[in-house]
Amino acid sequence: MTEHSAGNGRENTNIESLLKEGRVFKPSAAFSKGTEVGSPAAWEKLRAQASKSPVKFWEARAKELRWEKPWKKALDWKFPFAKWFVGGKLNASANCLDRHLEGPRANKAAIIWEGEPGEQRTLTYRQLHREVCVFANTLKKLGIRSGDRVAIYMPMVPEAAVAMLACARIGATHSVVFGGFSAEALRDRIQDAQAKAVITADGGWRKGAIVPLKAAVDDALAQCPGVETVVVLRRCGSVVSMKEGRDHWWQDALRGVGADCPPAALDAEHPLFILYTSGSTGKPKGVLHTTGGYLTHAAYSARLVFDLKENDVFWCTADIGWVTGHSYVVYGPLANGATVLMYEGAPMTPAPDRFWDLIERHRVTVFYTAPTAIRAFVRLGAEHVRKHDLSSLRLLGTVGEPINPEAWLWYRKEVGGDRCPIVDTWWQTETGGIMISPLPGATGTKPGSATKPLPGIDAAVVDKDGKPVPKGSGGLLVVRRPWPGMLRTVYGDPERYRAQYFSQIPGCYFTGDGARVDKDGYFWILGRVDDVINVAGHRLSTMEIESALVGHPRVAEAAVVGHPDELKGQGITAFVTLQTGVAAGPEMVDALKGAVAKAIGSIARPDVIRFADALPKTRSGKIMRRLLRDVAAGVKTSGDTTTLEDFAALAKLQPVQDE
Ligand code: PRX
Repeated sequence: MTEHSAGNGRENTNIESLLKEGRVFKPSAAFSKGTEVGSPAAWEKLRAQASKSPVKFWEARAKELRWEKPWKKALDWKFPFAKWFVGGKLNASANCLDRHLEGPRANKAAIIWEGEPGEQRTLTYRQLHREVCVFANTLKKLGIRSGDRVAIYMPMVPEAAVAMLACARIGATHSVVFGGFSAEALRDRIQDAQAKAVITADGGWRKGAIVPLKAAVDDALAQCPGVETVVVLRRCGSVVSMKEGRDHWWQDALRGVGADCPPAALDAEHPLFILYTSGSTGKPKGVLHTTGGYLTHAAYSARLVFDLKENDVFWCTADIGWVTGHSYVVYGPLANGATVLMYEGAPMTPAPDRFWDLIERHRVTVFYTAPTAIRAFVRLGAEHVRKHDLSSLRLLGTVGEPINPEAWLWYRKEVGGDRCPIVDTWWQTETGGIMISPLPGATGTKPGSATKPLPGIDAAVVDKDGKPVPKGSGGLLVVRRPWPGMLRTVYGDPERYRAQYFSQIPGCYFTGDGARVDKDGYFWILGRVDDVINVAGHRLSTMEIESALVGHPRVAEAAVVGHPDELKGQGITAFVTLQTGVAAGPEMVDALKGAVAKAIGSIARPDVIRFADALPKTRSGKIMRRLLRDVAAGVKTSGDTTTLEDFAALAKLQPVQDE
C-alpha cells in the first residue's frame, strides 16, 4: 500500500474533506491563455451559439474538413434515423493525410511507434500517406472494392492504422476486432458483417509473449466461407500456416504496387466503419458509423478537449480495437495533423514504469488513459512514476468508466505534477466521439465528474417519461438532439437500433447510463442501468457471458452479474446451476472459465463462479438479478424477496473459493 493509495487513512480524510468542500480545480491562467476556448465566458459563448442553432454550429465544424463536394442539406432527421451533410462528398483518409502534405506538416511525425520489445519507428505524414496509398492499391489488387467489409484483427502497430486508413481511402468499411477477442468472437463478427477480407498479423507482443492472431483467424475462418482474402503482416516472425490462394503476406503483397492512389470521393453517409459492442442481449451489435458526421465530431472533439497544438505528442493508450482507438488514436488526432504515440504492449512490461518511461523518452505532452490503469498504478506505488521526468506533460485525460476521486487526485498529483488539467471524458462506441467533458482551458473540474456536455451536445438526465429530474437526483442519461458522430444504425438490424436506443425514453437517444446533475450543472455518471457491465473499461454483456456458460454441456442455467472491484471497477460473478448429478468443484470452475474465454476472450473470464441448486426467480420466472448483485457484492440482501419462487435457493448458494 502506498502513501497515496485508497487504503491510507490520512489521505482518505483529506479526500473526504476536499470532496465535502466541493473544491473545483481551475486551469491555470498560463494554460488557459494558449487554448482555443480559454475562459468560462468563451465556453458559454460557444454553448449559446450551439444551442441557438445546433445544425449551423455543426456545419461550421464540418467546414473545417476538406470536402470534395459541398453538402446540400446539413441534417436530415427522420426519427430515429439521421443523415448529416447530405449530398456532400469527402474522404476520411484524405482529411487525415493528404490535407497535411501541402504545408510544413508534410515532414512532421504522424505516428511515433514503439513495440513492446522496444523497437521504434516514426512515420511522417508523407511516409504514412505513402504507406496508406500503397496498401490501398494492394487491397484493390486483391479485389477489395468500395462498400466491401474488411475485418482488421491486428496488434498495435502502425500497419493497423495504415489498414484502417487504406480501407477508408477506397471506401471499404472496416470492422476492427480487438486482438484480445477469441477466435469464436472474431468469427461471429466476421459473419455478421459479411466481411470479404481479413487483415491480420502473424502475432503481436503482449506481456513478453506472442499473441497468436493468425492462428485465431484460421480457426475463425473455418466457418466463414465468405472470406476470400487474408493479408498477414509479418510482425513477430512466428511460424503460421498460410492457405494457398487465400492468404498473402502483407510485405509480399505490396511488392511492385504503386503509390498513386487518389482518395475516393465518398458520400458523407458512406459507411466508414462497423465496431461491435456488447448490448443487453446475447449478440454483440455492429455499431455503424459513417464518414462526414463521424469525422466532424472526432476532429472537433479531439482539438477542443485535448487542446491539440502543433508541438504536441498525444498519447491515447487505447487499443485500436475499441472506439477510443478509432477516434483518438487514428481519426481525431490525424485529422488535426497531430503527432500520436502508439505503443504495442502491456503497461507493466518489462517493468511497472513502462508508461512513464515512454512518456519521458518521447516527451509526451497529452496523455489519455483509463481509470482502471490509473488504479493499477496507484496500487503499484508512486515510486515508479517518480523515477521519471514527466515535465513534458501538460494535459491528462481519462475515459471508459467512472473515476473515483482518490484515483483522480493521485493522477493529478503524481502524474500531472499538480499542474496538468484532467479531462474526464464520457462517451460511448455509439456516440462516435466525446460527449461530456471539460474543455481544459475553460472548465473548472471536480474529481469524479465528467463536467458538462460539449457545446453542440444536448445531454440531459431524465426520468422514464423523458422529463428532466431535479438537480441532484439520479436519473437516466439521454441525448435529446441528433449529433454528427452518432451511430446511424445497428448493422443489418435497424429495428434493433430503434428498440435499443430510441424506444425507451420518448424522443431521446438513451445511453444505458444513469447520471445526476449537480447544482452547478455538472454531470456525474453513475454507471450502467442495463445488463451491461464495465470491467476494466471493457464493456461486456452479462447475457453474452451467460450464453457462453449455458453453452457448456454440463450447465443447466447461469446468471452473471457485476461485483465491485477495487482495481477493475467491476468484476464478474457467475451463478451457475449444473445439470443434475454433475459435481461442483474446482475443475468445473476452470472448465467454465475456459468456456467463457473461448467464446468471448479472456477479458470476459468470470472472477468468481458460485454454484446454486436453483437460481432465485420471481413468480413469472425472471431471474432476480438485483438480489444476485447484492449476494455477489457480499452485502446483505435488500429489497423484497417475497416473490422468490424458491426461498431455499438463496440459502443454498455456496461460494467456491477462487484463485
Ligand atoms: O458506462 C459508460 C462508460 O462506458 C460506457 C461506454 O463504453 P464503450 O462503448 O465501450 O466506450 C468506452 C469508451 C468511450 C458508457 O456507457 N463510460 C465511458 N466513459 C466514461 C464512462 N463512465 C463514466 N465516466 C466516463 N468518463
